[in-house]
Amino acid sequence: MATREIGIIINGATGRMGATQHLKGLMAIRAEGGLPLKNGDRLVPSPLLVGRDKGRIEALARENGGLRCTTDVHAAIAGPDPVFMDCAATGGRAALVREAIAAGKHIHVEKPTAGSVDEAVELARLANRAGVKHGVIQDKLFLPGFAKLLALKQGGFFGRIIAARIDAGSWVFDGTEQGQPCQRPSWNYRRADGGGLALDMMAHWRYMLDRLAAPVVRVTSQLGTAIPKRVDEAGQRYDVDVEDTVHALLTLEGGGMATVSNSWATRVRRDDTMCVQIDGTGGSAVAGRNRCFVQEAAKTPETFFGAAQPGGMDFMAQWTEVSDPGPHTNPYRRCWELFLRHLGEDAPYVPTLLEGAKAVQLAELVYRSHAEARWLEVPALRA
Ligand SMILES: NC(=O)c1ccc[n+]([C@@H]2O[C@H](COP(=O)([O-])OP(=O)(O)OC[C@H]3O[C@@H](n4cnc5c(N)ncnc54)[C@H](O)[C@@H]3O)[C@@H](O)[C@H]2O)c1
Repeated sequence: MATREIGIIINGATGRMGATQHLKGLMAIRAEGGLPLKNGDRLVPSPLLVGRDKGRIEALARENGGLRCTTDVHAAIAGPDPVFMDCAATGGRAALVREAIAAGKHIHVEKPTAGSVDEAVELARLANRAGVKHGVIQDKLFLPGFAKLLALKQGGFFGRIIAARIDAGSWVFDGTEQGQPCQRPSWNYRRADGGGLALDMMAHWRYMLDRLAAPVVRVTSQLGTAIPKRVDEAGQRYDVDVEDTVHALLTLEGGGMATVSNSWATRVRRDDTMCVQIDGTGGSAVAGRNRCFVQEAAKTPETFFGAAQPGGMDFMAQWTEVSDPGPHTNPYRRCWELFLRHLGEDAPYVPTLLEGAKAVQLAELVYRSHAEARWLEVPALRA
């Protein structure tokens, strides 16, 4: 039994995802003495932090017990660490992944993997050709609520799936309201830096629909920019050149229908900021990030006439909560554990860069269907 350190370059380590998710998850594994593999060896993550601001990256390295750090991402990629994670702003990702593949790194990156489907497929192809292992973060199915939905799907609860509905979003302050800073970085609202709600969030809705309901085969959409001017991190007003609202209609394999209603300019009156409902002949289920409720076909109450009675009906009381198997591991840590197993013991890793490309593909089709005001087919992708 051996303990092996594995060097992991984290580009964008001081960002929200870098610091609060990826680094934290890896440090938790490290603090436990590494990930135990099947053969008894332990794989201990050894992060190399990369960021643009010397002071901030050095401070983060110090706070984590004196980790290695640099402001030179190219030197990090040219160095000996075998794994490359990019969780910096989306716009720079594809070029860095290309460089990292050429340097023989295994790739594990945030979504979306690239700004266009052609580029995203090319990355998957290059990684396959180079023989490196690769993956993209798909964290949402590890959230307790959506994990329960996935278990219902896998257990055949829904019967024939009729529809899926994703209702997501919340109010993102524009930087001028009630002294509230904008909760999202300004690059999210600039096309050149990889911003845009569709590019950001279709990356999640693609695998959620594909796996919780059925593969997406057709899409049409309307996009909008509800708040056209915002205030950035330096207090400067800037013009938003991307959408902050997406409505998509989708057809699923087998004939099911799906809707995605996603906005950064909506106020929440539902169970969670992200809600997914699946309707099937066997029953329906609704989940937020943590809780999941079901209504079986055999227990479905009459509501067509009943709701019209004085006093109406308590629809919420007609659902049964799925029990929680907790405690739960942080979803990003789960992604890392599976990827480290993929590296250390060749266990399968489902969300490869090709899966990442499928997500970019759906975003691209959403943009095109809006621009061309028509339905578009979702062609199969091959790396
Ligand atoms: N898996 C998820 O659910 C999830 C959630 C949020 C964000 N993300 C993805 O993670 C990545 C980072 O998002 P975040 O919310 O942590 O962003 P963030 O702005 O908090 O962090 C981005 C990091 O990138 C660096 N950076 C590099 N080039 C930049 C540029 N041109 N402009 C601004 N910053 C730049 C910043 O210094 C910062 O360290 C994005 O690709 C995003 O799509 C994924």
